Amino acid sequence: MRSYELREKYLSFFREKGHAVIPSASVIPENDPTVLFTTAGMHPLVPYLLGASHPEGKRLTNVQKCIRTGDIDEVGDATHCTFFEMLGNWSLGDYFKKEAIQWSWEFLTSEKWLNIPREKLYVTVFAGDEDAPRDMESFNLWVSMGVPEDHIFFLPKENNWWGPAGQTGPCGPDTEMFIDTGKPKCGPDCSPACNCGKYVEIWNDVFMEYNKTHDGRYEPLSQKNVDTGMGLDRTIAILQGVESVYDTDLYKGIMDRIAQLAEKEYGQDPETTRAYRIVADHIRTSTFILGDEKGVTPSNVDQGYVLRRLIRRAVRYGLQIGIPEGSTPRIAEAVIDQYGSVYPELVKNRQFIMNELSLEEEKFQRTIKQGLKEFDKLISRLGADTKTIAGHDAFRLYDTFGFPIEFTQELAEEKGFKVDIEGFKESFRRHQEISQAGASQRFKGGLADHTEETARLHTATHLLHAALRKVLGDEVAQKGSNITAERLRFDFSFSRKMTPEEIEQVERLVNEAIDKDYEVVCEEMSLEDARNSGAIGLFESKYGSRVKVYTIGDFSKELCGGPHATRTGELGRFRIVKEESSSAGVRRIRAVLEH
Ligand code: ALA
Repeated sequence: MRSYELREKYLSFFREKGHAVIPSASVIPENDPTVLFTTAGMHPLVPYLLGASHPEGKRLTNVQKCIRTGDIDEVGDATHCTFFEMLGNWSLGDYFKKEAIQWSWEFLTSEKWLNIPREKLYVTVFAGDEDAPRDMESFNLWVSMGVPEDHIFFLPKENNWWGPAGQTGPCGPDTEMFIDTGKPKCGPDCSPACNCGKYVEIWNDVFMEYNKTHDGRYEPLSQKNVDTGMGLDRTIAILQGVESVYDTDLYKGIMDRIAQLAEKEYGQDPETTRAYRIVADHIRTSTFILGDEKGVTPSNVDQGYVLRRLIRRAVRYGLQIGIPEGSTPRIAEAVIDQYGSVYPELVKNRQFIMNELSLEEEKFQRTIKQGLKEFDKLISRLGADTKTIAGHDAFRLYDTFGFPIEFTQELAEEKGFKVDIEGFKESFRRHQEISQAGASQRFKGGLADHTEETARLHTATHLLHAALRKVLGDEVAQKGSNITAERLRFDFSFSRKMTPEEIEQVERLVNEAIDKDYEVVCEEMSLEDARNSGAIGLFESKYGSRVKVYTIGDFSKELCGGPHATRTGELGRFRIVKEESSSAGVRRIRAVLEH
């Protein structure tokens, strides 16, 4: 069976059972700051699991694009991927355990559907604890389907409980379905609970009847829901009888493209196999993040950081198998060819995806070169009798130059040195503590944040505002602005989409103003004087009667609370990453400064 057939079969099966087929949501969650990515099909449905009414009804099914990066270090084995598609069906307060289990069994085993031999299937159910009772109902349902009792395992919350997707929200006990791959047992206690690879989980039926609250309690939900998830990649690997997800038709074109580019051959040794898989997985995930029209680009925070890490890891493992510089866009092309007919957004955003990949790759190649110089300096500083690179030095290479620790280790080994790994971990841990302490300030960038980069972005926002008015006319007025250390976001009134020429013109005007190296002059004056001086900006009483007016040459005069750069020459290159609609009559621009 091909992967597209599995998608189609799943949706048709549940359509026959009265479910409405809904589209996949974005991999970047809307309005949910508790998680960076959509990790499961239920995630975009949380409001409906909590009781809101869904326009498509109480029975839904879809294929959801998901990203989970928690197991990034496991990628390269037979089953782990950072991106995968989840086939799912939901009951929003409609059917419950009986139908869910019966339908799962029918879909898996019926000749008309997947026709998986019954004796290969194993299931697990929730063993019960102080929060919820042992799930005898599910056990009895499986037995009534004909599943032998020795194929059913009771397991605790850590195995048979799902959710919430963030810190709080809908969750409940689940029952999971596994395939016996036929491998020998890893020991007398081998069961679906162990990770030895004998049993592979393919489907999870979650019975969401609880809501986890902020204080860690599980309270009953007003409605009992079903949330199921079948991993497309893993299931298709089983159905195609191949050893790993990377050997399925989902990955064929991508792996072939890598093989064309690489010097080493897939399968020639375990290290090469792993590197091929990491490159394929990471570029696939990066392509989906960039393809999702949310304006996420590589950066040092949040989704942008994950994206940067994925691309850089792919480049590094690519080097290991002899992939030449600048190849990531070509691998992304293979991803788009594979998935474009199912996810047209990838085709639509092809150019954006390829540009961003190549920009990030170039940046990383430059950083690697600088880092290599730094590494050589470091080695030459060490005394003749020191053969160990200190943990904090290895950490600096990691933190400043993006050198993964294994990379430093390999380089060190080549020159007959070792790395103090414990020391590295210690520095890493300390750094994490510091950044976690800072995590509560993640949404920095407001007027209270006076870091240099945000100051530059404030100044860039003024230049952008002025340039927009020069290109589009005085109809343009600021509607909102949001600045993080990474990017600016500017909302303004304008009635239509900007043309590519207009975007280019605005970029050019801003960059010309930067090149003129204007001084940014700040004057305090009364609101009335400010108005009379022709300054633009939000003339709201919240500023008080005295306001600051920032003048940038003859280019811009605008009211603002600051902070700002002292001269435009400090800003770097200005680039508009995205122009999109924000709400009726309001456009939104995201832009960055590149140094
Ligand atoms: N939400 C469930 C899972 O991800 C179905 O396994």
